[in-house]
Amino acid sequence: MTLVSLITLCLSFLALFATASLATDRARSCRSYCGNITVDYPFSLDYGCGHPGFRDLLFCMNDVLMFHISSGSYRVLDIDYAYQALTLHDPHMSTCDTIVLGGRGNGFAVEQWRAPYFNPTADNVFMLIGCSAESPVFQGFPGKHLPCRNVSGMGCEEYYDCPAWTMVGHKKFGSVHGSGPPECCAVAFEAIKSINLSKLQCEGYSSAYSVAPLRTDGAGGWSYGVRVKYSVQGNDEFCRACKATGGACGFGIDGVKQLCMCGSFNSTTDCDSESSTSSKITLPFPDALAGFVINGAMWMISNHF
Ligand SMILES: *[C@@H]1O[C@H](CO)[C@@H](O)[C@H](O)[C@H]1NC(C)=O
Ligand SMILES: *[C@@H]1O[C@H](CO)[C@@H](O)[C@H](O)[C@H]1NC(C)=O
Ligand SMILES: *[C@@H]1O[C@H](CO)[C@@H](O)[C@H](O)[C@H]1NC(C)=O
Ligand SMILES: *[C@@H]1O[C@H](CO)[C@@H](O)[C@H](O)[C@H]1NC(C)=O
Repeated sequence: MTLVSLITLCLSFLALFATASLATDRARSCRSYCGNITVDYPFSLDYGCGHPGFRDLLFCMNDVLMFHISSGSYRVLDIDYAYQALTLHDPHMSTCDTIVLGGRGNGFAVEQWRAPYFNPTADNVFMLIGCSAESPVFQGFPGKHLPCRNVSGMGCEEYYDCPAWTMVGHKKFGSVHGSGPPECCAVAFEAIKSINLSKLQCEGYSSAYSVAPLRTDGAGGWSYGVRVKYSVQGNDEFCRACKATGGACGFGIDGVKQLCMCGSFNSTTDCDSESSTSSKITLPFPDALAGFVINGAMWMISNHF
């Protein structure tokens, strides 16, 4: 084996090592954890990482992941990346054990620009509690029908059987058959688009979702929380191409334009493409090391022969 082939072999190994370590560095740069929840694309905990529609959304405080939208802050219980759904908990939401009145609950309303990215699932029921007779729930909607109904087998009739209702004395005043509005009205998010308690003039709300198959032991067996579908609106191509070339998906400081972060540079397409938005000004360690070694080897070769 000649010296030249030996050097070539060494260089190939070094290049391989540098590329591999660079690729893992890139991929690692945007993914993180909060408690035991993985935060990955399209979500992120760092500004500039993830999808721009999901910016300024998640915050990690003492290992508790919080989801912040215009209606309030929710605790994230789970992010299901395969089904593209989030499970949220609102501490001021009524459950089977407690009824929280006084309009303290968040409901669920997102900023208009963010609305296309988030929708409570079709099998999530919102049960509005103590809405006034003048509530828009009972009037202005198309068809003018009372929108109260069962959603995915869950509704107020069964919810009334919860211990919480005995405590507020449901059976004593008002009734579904009385003249006033029902004490509880179950709706699907689709029917209302925004669960804004003050706008709907409701005292409180509960939210439950069914993870099929629905348990048959009544409202005591429901899962309470808000189950939200998220979507990046079909433009997943950019991120797929970016990840495939070892990059991490992010966006520019304008909060709009998507960027592929490739370690030493950002690209508007992917890491194999030349159209980078910033030139290679600073070399990260593996690149610099590889460059140093290659230059040194070249110097040796040119001096030796
Ligand atoms: C996280 O830990 C909590 C208990 O601390 C557990 O109830 C929950 O299921 C865990 N979540 C995940 C996604 O593993
Ligand atoms: C790439 O973009 C991210 C997010 O905008 C930014 O934080 C980072 O500094 C940029 N990197 C380079 C090398 O320009
Ligand atoms: C809820 O409705 C009230 C009254 O219409 C409005 O002032 C408030 O901004 C709305 N909140 C959200 C989160 O949309
Ligand atoms: C909802 O389901 C319950 C129990 O199955 C039933 O008694 C009730 O009539 C249904 N309510 C509506 C509005 O369909």
